[in-house]
Amino acid sequence: MQNSLERQDLREIGHAAVEWAAAYYDSLRQRRLTRPTTAAAVRAMLDPALPREGCDFSELLQAIDGVVAEYSRHNAHPRFFGYVASPGVAVASAAALIAATLNINVTGWRSGPVAAEMEHLTVGWLKEMIGYPADAMGLLVSGGSMANLSALAAARAVRGCGPVYTTEETHFSIKKAARLLGMGPVRIVATDSSLRMDPAALTRAIGHDRAAGLAPSLVAASAGTAGTGVVDPLAEIARVARAHDLWLHADGAYGALAAMAPSARPLFAGIAEADSVSLDPHKWLYLPVGTGCVLYRDSAAARAAFSDTAEYIRVIGLEHDEAFAFWDYGPELSRPFRALPLWMLVKSVGAKALADCIEENLASARYFGELVSKTEDLELLTPVGLSVFCFRYHPRGFLGDLDALNERVLLRLQQSGSSYLSNTKVRGAFALRGCVLNFRTTRRDMEILLEDVITAARSL
Ligand SMILES: Cc1ncc(COP(=O)(O)O)c(C=O)c1O
Repeated sequence: MQNSLERQDLREIGHAAVEWAAAYYDSLRQRRLTRPTTAAAVRAMLDPALPREGCDFSELLQAIDGVVAEYSRHNAHPRFFGYVASPGVAVASAAALIAATLNINVTGWRSGPVAAEMEHLTVGWLKEMIGYPADAMGLLVSGGSMANLSALAAARAVRGCGPVYTTEETHFSIKKAARLLGMGPVRIVATDSSLRMDPAALTRAIGHDRAAGLAPSLVAASAGTAGTGVVDPLAEIARVARAHDLWLHADGAYGALAAMAPSARPLFAGIAEADSVSLDPHKWLYLPVGTGCVLYRDSAAARAAFSDTAEYIRVIGLEHDEAFAFWDYGPELSRPFRALPLWMLVKSVGAKALADCIEENLASARYFGELVSKTEDLELLTPVGLSVFCFRYHPRGFLGDLDALNERVLLRLQQSGSSYLSNTKVRGAFALRGCVLNFRTTRRDMEILLEDVITAARSL
């Protein structure tokens, strides 16, 4: 007799799930971005008792529809501009089903010959998209934080644990990685008037440390900061790093794939000089959360950091490419089939369509910057950087606390459910911050955002 796990029929539950997912995508524009609730209310809705018996799949879908979707923030919504969001795309929903069905554990070539080769292939495409050397090595990881950690681990293996140079604008995962790896101290290098790392200040900081007998190890530059979208002067920083024998890491988790857009490409001219790069297909290639990538110019450095073996995983009877193991180049052993959604996306729409969408996102952000500049009582706090805009409400004659006022505007806007921004600080001032990272977003959405911000501000 079949047990109840064997009795589950994918045709039946899969069709229902696909219908649900398609209806979800169709409903995005009609949905409130967020629905106010509390942790206790959500816990109660999730029915915490351990189920002794199973239930029908239709009951699960009801809970997904009425609770999970209803009380989640919709990152795929065209007016979700918060943080650096992964919007998700239909072909990746299909890929998730197929990847879970094949359930290949992509530890190495032996575990999944096609999955391993597909990962090499898609990582090669990513290198081409951003203009990184074709002979560099790379692998897919869970996201930008893990890519940064992996890159710093490779740097540490060949350059030691000495001081790390970065800026105030750099993503916090760099500092976290340095701390976890015992690297440091982390030096905050001054930025120029555009919030870009100042190469002269970097040179000085390295000089001070050398004079004090320290052995500087790494410069972490940003190829698109999360806060303001700034790209550091990568070519100049690379020259400083080379001159002082430091490892250069470029954190392009948010920005690097903008190199595909002709209007942004020149900003990334120096990225090929970096010893390692982080870039996230789950950001600007629109894939759902879970696909990041780390690239290393020198695969031996990554091997020095990660290579290990044990009798129970020793590769027997295979050589050369067929003996390849991802665990020699990154922290994970068990790894999901991350290349599949990436491969299916790029194959199904082509690189040109993706580049066009990125270009349109950049143009939408610039368009919003123009709208803000033309609107009374709103001011841009810094020029639009890639697809990030930072601005604030500044009513004429207002002499009170602008930071506190704008915090209230932000909360009111988020509660409206129509548009969503997040926050950052620009040179110490509280900023309403948005990032256009969704192929569903139109210029009209930028106009609606402006209307929503004005409504939220005037309602206070
Ligand atoms: C520049 C930058 N680096 C690193 C990260 C961390 O990436 P993840 O959230 O995928 O770990 C982010 C996330 O937004 C980012 O913008």
